[in-house]
Amino acid sequence: MNSDTVKLTIDGKAVEARAGDKLLFAALDAGIYIPHLCALRGVSPHIPHLCALRGVSPHAGCRLCLVEIEGRRRPITACTEDVADGMVVRTDTAHVRRLQHTALELLLASHPIECKTCPANGACSLQRIAAFLHVKLKQKRFRSRIRDLPVDDSHPDIGIDPDKCVICGKCIWACVEHKGIGAINWAFRGDRTVITPFGGDRLVDTKCDGDGLCADVCPVGAIWRKENGIPVSKKSIE
Ligand code: FES
Repeated sequence: MNSDTVKLTIDGKAVEARAGDKLLFAALDAGIYIPHLCALRGVSPHIPHLCALRGVSPHAGCRLCLVEIEGRRRPITACTEDVADGMVVRTDTAHVRRLQHTALELLLASHPIECKTCPANGACSLQRIAAFLHVKLKQKRFRSRIRDLPVDDSHPDIGIDPDKCVICGKCIWACVEHKGIGAINWAFRGDRTVITPFGGDRLVDTKCDGDGLCADVCPVGAIWRKENGIPVSKKSIE
């Protein structure tokens, strides 16, 4: 091992990772899946043009990537935690799974389940996480909170359905931090939070260049690319 790498144990498996890596990505690279929605790394094996993403900072809003680390009193979000030499991590304890179930079910309570017509069907992180945690998408433990917000289909290259947004913030990283355009951003707070075109305009009335990076990083079907006005199906999930 050189000084650039650290050795840790995740679910009993010896893992070597680059010093400074986030625990979430060290686990994923080692083939250990931890549910996650809002983490984004600079290098994505699935979306090559994200390799140059800069300004990537953990938002830690989805609370799905909780893990237990030996010596810590409470579960920790793996997307915010740097790997450390000798770290012992459990990703699959009953306590972790309970917390992940609750986080997922709260998200599903405000998510319209329209998978059959959604451009992200089959490439949706919510579908993947629900399958991993054995949670049925339609079986809602919490009261449904669908907001019935209007779809913005004004732009020729990009569509936005704010009802499907999981408030992960990845599209904002792409548009504001990476591209420096700022066509979309957060608005309101708490359970009224939305990602919306600047000033509440239609997307077509903003500086959006239609590049579609926001759609590529969206883990669900809240933002999609269009070709000739038709939604393009998403292909990849991380
Ligand atoms: S991926 Fe860690 S909190 Fe969302």
